[in-house]
Amino acid sequence: MGPSILSVCYIVASVTFILGLKMLSNPSTARRGNLIAAAGMIIAILGTIFLYEDDGKRLGNYPWIFSAIFIGSIIGVLVAKKVKMTAMPELVSFFNGMGGACAALISIVEFDYLYRENRAVSNSFSDVVASGHYLAIIAGTIIGSVSFIGSMIAWGKLSGKFKDYSFKGQHLFNNLILILILVSAVYAYFSNTQFVNIPFFITVALALLYGVFFVLPIGGADMPVVISLLNSFTGVAAACGGFLYNNKAMLTGGILVGAAGTLLTILMCRAMNRSLVNVLIGSFGGSNKASGGHDTEGSIKEISLSDAAMLMAYSKKVMIVPGYGLAVAQAQHTCHELEKALDEKGVEVKYAIHPVAGRMPGHMNVLLAEADVSYEKLLEMDDANEEFKTTDVVLILGANDVVNPAAKNDPSSPIYGMPILEVELAKNVIVNKRSMKPGYAGIENQLFYQPKTSMLFGDAKKVLQELLAELKNI
Ligand code: TAP
Repeated sequence: MGPSILSVCYIVASVTFILGLKMLSNPSTARRGNLIAAAGMIIAILGTIFLYEDDGKRLGNYPWIFSAIFIGSIIGVLVAKKVKMTAMPELVSFFNGMGGACAALISIVEFDYLYRENRAVSNSFSDVVASGHYLAIIAGTIIGSVSFIGSMIAWGKLSGKFKDYSFKGQHLFNNLILILILVSAVYAYFSNTQFVNIPFFITVALALLYGVFFVLPIGGADMPVVISLLNSFTGVAAACGGFLYNNKAMLTGGILVGAAGTLLTILMCRAMNRSLVNVLIGSFGGSNKASGGHDTEGSIKEISLSDAAMLMAYSKKVMIVPGYGLAVAQAQHTCHELEKALDEKGVEVKYAIHPVAGRMPGHMNVLLAEADVSYEKLLEMDDANEEFKTTDVVLILGANDVVNPAAKNDPSSPIYGMPILEVELAKNVIVNKRSMKPGYAGIENQLFYQPKTSMLFGDAKKVLQELLAELKNI
């Protein structure tokens, strides 16, 4: 009876994962989708704990299992509540690393079990373990280990604990480790059952080494792409665990994560007009040094708060371009206030959203949704670029790279080819940031020196509050 109810639990869980993922694609249903998928996961976990049977034996070990779940849940809740929106990519990376570690450990535990069972047989490991079973074990171990350590390095880089590191011949070195991993994995399979653990754990060590050197040279700005790729690795490693234990929920969950991670990786690369290979072997946007790009020419022009307020108040259409700085300043609510104040004056206000603005996919959508900005007012890049032609004022709030014309007209720029918001098509451009410092890619922005552009320096929140006050006096 238990196992058949358990199968139903897994099917229910798989359906909730699919539903949840579908609902995540729309901001209005995303929260509910997340909760539904989480409920499915709880059903799968509790079902496994209480209904799983092997030779008529249940799991047992309940105090250990529930203590671990309790401690893990407390840590998870506290960390998720405490994290700042700007540190979200780090958290996602850390959680993904934990997923990779779990997937790898599941495979390692299965190997350990088979090793102990067959140690005395003194024959080739291939004689006692079917090749498909070994493939699932070794693939889960290698991919999970790379995902774990790679995500930890990505977390360290995003939180400023590690710097980019590369050396001459690094890619050759990485490929060599990859070959060694494959050789030692195959060697392990044909090893004597008594000593198979040695090449197996050498494979694990090499996979960890590969994970470190795979992520270390990749530039900071490319970390989200890497995290998304590692996320898909975790999914594949978890799916291997699903094969090992014939666990349908794990298999479905793993496949969904693997597929979603791969699609997100491709979409992000497209948004930056770069190939995945270029992301993985090009060291782009590591530190805040000016890398590539020509020196900027001309001088900048500043605008006063009252002039900026006046310009916007007498416009027909204002387009707001939010960027990372808006998230840093936590100025989304004040931004929404400004939008409403302009709206009351008969000005049409919309938001132009670049797919990689901020520091994580959908960062600006989430930020503005938090301030109850209507989803209808958000324009995707292509639509926004069409509307700039009829826009009177573009107000850029803490965005930089995503409006940098070097991406279009400077082949020597590291961001050359990345699609950008073409704000220069509008009549006037007001840029709010605190200084002339570059953005994430570490490069100058010629937009700030163009005749149409006026700089409005200061923290986004403070500037928006002052703009609001000025608007009220008009
Ligand atoms: P950035 O190019 O990073 O520019 C942000 C600007 O905000 C900075 O130039 C900074 O200038 C300004 N700023 C910071 N704090 C501010 C504050 N309190 N008030 C006002 N301005 C403030 O941001 P972006 O245009 O959003 O572009 C995103 C970049 O990050 C791209 O290069 C993208 O490839 C990369 N990236 C994207 C993602 C994803 S998936 N979204 C993830 C990681 C990296 P000041 O210091 O002068 O104020």
